[in-house]
Amino acid sequence: MKKRLFLTATAVAVAALGATSAMAQADTFKIGLIVPLTGQQASTGKQIEAATKLYMAQNGASVAGKKIELIIKDDGGIPDASKRIAQELVVNDKVNVLAGFGLTPIALAVAPIATQSKTPQIIMAAATSIITEASPYIIRTSFTIPQSAVAMADWAPKNGIKKVVTLVSDYGPGIDAEKFFKDRLLFNGGQVIESLRVPLRGPDFAPFLQKVRDIKPDALFVFVPSGAGAAVMKQFLERGMDKAGIKLIGTGDLTDDDQLNDMGDGALNVVTSHHYSAAHPSALNKKFVDAFEKANKGLRPNFMAVGGYDGMRVIYEALRATKGAGGGDALLAAMKGQIFESPRGPMFIDAQTRDVVHNMYLRKVEKKDGKLYNVEFDVIKDMKDPGKTR
Ligand code: DHB
Repeated sequence: MKKRLFLTATAVAVAALGATSAMAQADTFKIGLIVPLTGQQASTGKQIEAATKLYMAQNGASVAGKKIELIIKDDGGIPDASKRIAQELVVNDKVNVLAGFGLTPIALAVAPIATQSKTPQIIMAAATSIITEASPYIIRTSFTIPQSAVAMADWAPKNGIKKVVTLVSDYGPGIDAEKFFKDRLLFNGGQVIESLRVPLRGPDFAPFLQKVRDIKPDALFVFVPSGAGAAVMKQFLERGMDKAGIKLIGTGDLTDDDQLNDMGDGALNVVTSHHYSAAHPSALNKKFVDAFEKANKGLRPNFMAVGGYDGMRVIYEALRATKGAGGGDALLAAMKGQIFESPRGPMFIDAQTRDVVHNMYLRKVEKKDGKLYNVEFDVIKDMKDPGKTR
């Protein structure tokens, strides 16, 4: 009799304990942020981390009665690590959303986990077109490389650039850049006369640039991931390629705001196409850049930061719209079709493709108040991912 009473009491206590932790769980909304904070892509992780924290500081750490918990994990830019971390975040931490993803292979490695666990996966950095097709739970707030590449291939031939050599990192976004730039340039009456690919890890641009110098095209079109642009610029200038009459053009990853001001005056007048510039002239962007620099010892936000900031907006508003319910399918539905003003300009999450629709800007490097910026001079409005119309 006594033993039974004891057992019953224990069962009640255990049940009560379970209820308390379930309630704690229910009151918390967890975002698992997987970014590279070490290794070759570390600047991408640092920019996104800073931007997500800024968003929380500005918008509060609770939404619809839920406390927002941001769990930040460093994957070093290695897909196997990202996959293991994503599994742990889903199974052990029971995160409501997965976010971040500094490289295309990482976004693709985590996609099956998002699908199996019905967890929304917010792509804040990676930009290969195909990513959104890897899981119905993927939403993208970064950009797509075909958007940037097509914008540049429309601008170049109208501005005296007909014969071009392409130089890209040899993986997903680089292959997209090469293909979409080449096809569109040809369509517009220009021509890619040589396509060069450099390894993603530890690239040495010197032999490739020497080859470009020998070919002497009107322009060299470059895609390298965020963080590698300064090395390309340095070696391009060291070889005197600008003086030899070869123009340097590319997607905006090349004149990355994270590095641009340290590239020196040799970067002046380089034209790139991209969805975000820290010099974007809107009141909202000015406020964003000022707050970001203030919170991060003067660090200028780049396009990775904006992908992270807007990703947090999409998550916050989905949670608000579902009144804190937090289930994967309901959140996903509330993320699709969101339309808002981003520091980049107007932004829309296409409900059909779950991909970002936004403006593509042509920009030229200029000096403003003694600092180098990508100054926007033309715009292609509301561009969808050209890769989605295949
Ligand atoms: C990707 C990574 C980058 O750093 C970038 O600038 C563009 C694309 C990617 O891996 O998808």
